[in-house]
Amino acid sequence: MESNRIVVTGAAGFIGSSLCEALVEQGHSVLGLDSLFRGSLDNLSAVLEHPHFQFMQGDVRDIDQLDDAVEHLGGVDIIYHLAAINGTKWFHEAAHSVIDVNINGTLRTLELAMANDARYVLASSPEAFGDAEIQPLTNGNPMTFSDPAEHQRHSYGASKYLDEVACQHASREGLDVRIVRPFNAYGPRLKGDEYGQVVAMFFQSIVNNQPLSLHAGGQQTRSFTWIGDIVDGFLKAGLMDTGLDGVSLNGCALNIGSTEEVSIQELQTAIYEVVASDLTWKQALPEVQVTDGYFGDSKRRLPNCYESTSLLGWSASTTLNDGLQRMWDSIR
Ligand SMILES: NC(=O)c1ccc[n+]([C@@H]2O[C@H](COP(=O)([O-])OP(=O)(O)OC[C@H]3O[C@@H](n4cnc5c(N)ncnc54)[C@H](O)[C@@H]3O)[C@@H](O)[C@H]2O)c1
Repeated sequence: MESNRIVVTGAAGFIGSSLCEALVEQGHSVLGLDSLFRGSLDNLSAVLEHPHFQFMQGDVRDIDQLDDAVEHLGGVDIIYHLAAINGTKWFHEAAHSVIDVNINGTLRTLELAMANDARYVLASSPEAFGDAEIQPLTNGNPMTFSDPAEHQRHSYGASKYLDEVACQHASREGLDVRIVRPFNAYGPRLKGDEYGQVVAMFFQSIVNNQPLSLHAGGQQTRSFTWIGDIVDGFLKAGLMDTGLDGVSLNGCALNIGSTEEVSIQELQTAIYEVVASDLTWKQALPEVQVTDGYFGDSKRRLPNCYESTSLLGWSASTTLNDGLQRMWDSIR
């Protein structure tokens, strides 16, 4: 397989660190850039000493640091842009920074890609669809956003939407751009603190024996996707020169998500079953509390993966029960 020089922004985060591991394993030279705002060097422990991996602490909004990164790598063939402020609590508490990093980080890395004639892969989000009424989320569906006076949750989704606008513009200007929308990735290293994401938060409540919070009764549904499947989607989206049909992937927006639609209450039950089946775990399962949750939380987030399957040959291969079991094993 051809070896590429690849910059990964957000490399020390949950998805970025697993992506770096997979790219290095395939023989690519990788430079991971991260501000360490939310990621950590521990996440990169498997690759930090690898001869084909370099880490640079830096801010994705800083074009000089991005230029340095490319210089250290000796040029760049592909940019995977994953740096963003993720974690729902931040979207409300730090809307200004969420917008700043999303929009300026994407504009600066697009400029970097253009200056170096590199292929560009954006980590967008299903939240770019906003308050989507129509499911599954399909390219061409309306992307609609509520009044920002009501809540600031869309600091994240609306700026991902603008990231996609900037990418489609760059694509029309001739840059080779691919957009990936991961759906609720989960696996080891997912953050479970109060700024974290639901699967890890539930496991953390169990480990710490603290009441587990079901927002608004837990009837919202999500499509939880195992990290290995997510990384496989990013690899295919960035490394394939064309789609399976031989047609350019430039400008394609690819939903990478499980089509197993699960309510948050069903997720909680599935996690309790996994832990209860572990006979070596002696601690009682914590009580479940129903809390208000966040304004603007979407009721459903289900992907249509037609493009990912037909163009990349991608589909999620790990069931929720298998993934939860693997995550519990890694926590134990
Ligand atoms: N995890 C998911 O389910 C999911 C779903 C949809 C989209 N995404 C997108 O995928 C990408 C990766 O998500 P993740 O779950 O790994 O999140 P993460 O928070 O674990 O990783 C993001 C990384 O970006 C870094 N970062 C933040 N601001 C930065 C800055 N100014 N300069 C440089 N680095 C900065 C953080 O320190 C962190 O390590 C993000 O763009 C996210 O929006 C993730």
